[in-house]
Amino acid sequence: MFNIADLQKEIIRLKKEKDICILAHAYQPHNILEIADFTGDSFGLSVEASKAPQKTILMCGVRFMAQSVKILCPDKKVILSHPQAGCPMAEQMTVEQVREMRRLHPNAAVVAYINTTAELKNECDVCVTSASALKIVKNMAEKEIIFIPDCNLGSWIQNQVPDKKFYFYSGGCPVHMSIRKKDVDEARILYPGAKLLVHPECLKEITEQADYVGSTTGIMKYVENSEHNEFIIGTDNSIAQHLQYAYPEKRFYTLSKYCVCHDMRLTTLVDVYNCLKGLSGEEITLDENVRQGAKSCIDKMIAYGG
Ligand code: 13P
Ligand code: SF4
Repeated sequence: MFNIADLQKEIIRLKKEKDICILAHAYQPHNILEIADFTGDSFGLSVEASKAPQKTILMCGVRFMAQSVKILCPDKKVILSHPQAGCPMAEQMTVEQVREMRRLHPNAAVVAYINTTAELKNECDVCVTSASALKIVKNMAEKEIIFIPDCNLGSWIQNQVPDKKFYFYSGGCPVHMSIRKKDVDEARILYPGAKLLVHPECLKEITEQADYVGSTTGIMKYVENSEHNEFIIGTDNSIAQHLQYAYPEKRFYTLSKYCVCHDMRLTTLVDVYNCLKGLSGEEITLDENVRQGAKSCIDKMIAYGG
């Protein structure tokens, strides 16, 4: 039987022996972040994967993140840490629904949040992350935008780009949408001096009350650069825990005890160990036409400054 520290040592030994690069999204448990080669947001991880010398990448996160790595690194073997770890939002829309929206709004550009399947990206014009969406939408020539699938992130962008017309699909992240105004009201009473930092996947009633709205990386950078000592975190609760490890002298409070992404919690340290031994995980494969279409959507994101 392993204890956590022994298992982590064995994982670090095995990943070196097998020359495997481990990527962990920021929502993964702390004991997985500790053994990863890179941690960060979904797009940042794909970029690190393409720079990594290893030919095999183990993605500890959810399926669309492993697909994004495969889109950018077709020659690498990409393994998803847990075959059932998906993102409910990434899979909310069908290809036919995207085509129908395009048919209804022929002058609009289709902007896809990175939390989409490769098949959906293949149907879209440009991809965005929560960190880059605002800049990209502002830089685009088109005056009409079909923003899919997250209408909460989309309307947060719309409020800041009033000269463009937006069309939304009524999708969104069930985890972030579970946070309600009463959670903010309660947290403000309990922690009156704390700054409220939230992800743009939250409902408007939450983002409009926040001191800062940004991606997981943005929230972490905000704390790093802030003089404040207390923060209420409105995104997956793992972020409050990671921040507490990084800044033990500061205090981090979760905005809602229900803000937990169960798909992100599926991967355990034992799964990582088993993936390295070739006993678990799923190798990601993509149809080459879909991969190229999805890649052109990501390439345009980079070209627009995302
Ligand atoms: P980030 O791109 O901010 O890491 O967000 C990914 C995600 O799934 C948020 O719910
Ligand atoms: Fe998807 Fe929401 Fe989980 Fe992020 S937190 S991976 S958007 S379900």
